[in-house]
Amino acid sequence: MDLIFTLGGTGFTPRDVTPEATKELIEKETPGLLHAMMQESLKVTPFAMLSRAAAGIRGSTLIINMPGNPNAAAECIEALLPALKHGLKQIKGDKREKHPRHVPHAEAAPTDTWERSYKMASITGKEPGSSCSH
Ligand code: MTE
Repeated sequence: MDLIFTLGGTGFTPRDVTPEATKELIEKETPGLLHAMMQESLKVTPFAMLSRAAAGIRGSTLIINMPGNPNAAAECIEALLPALKHGLKQIKGDKREKHPRHVPHAEAAPTDTWERSYKMASITGKEPGSSCSH
């Protein structure tokens, strides 16, 4: 199984033990996913801070806790969508799976990246589009 979402049991009541069960299973934590969910959820409700959701990887399976409320789960999934497919491919060990704007080193123009970045920043006041490095 590539992906498991659990629903509910992430709150503060005595019966909310989904994160503890999940943490027993996972081998690698994925805190960025939790951060993204929390960041977006807090825009919707301050109650988002009451979720203790856990997430991580076991073998080649990504496990993510979601709050039980259907709206909350939808909001959390929406927060993950921009990077979820990329992450799932990485779990499969596909080193060729790159960020859409990633240029392989062998194909990159032989420009000094730092110098190019510095020049771009000086002209536009912005960094050029970032690319995933692994
Ligand atoms: N996150 C989002 N995006 N939207 C919500 O409505 N509800 C919160 C929080 N996270 C909520 C949310 C509430 S009210 C609770 S109690 C916690 O999730 C825990 O929910 P759970 O016990 O169903 O997992």
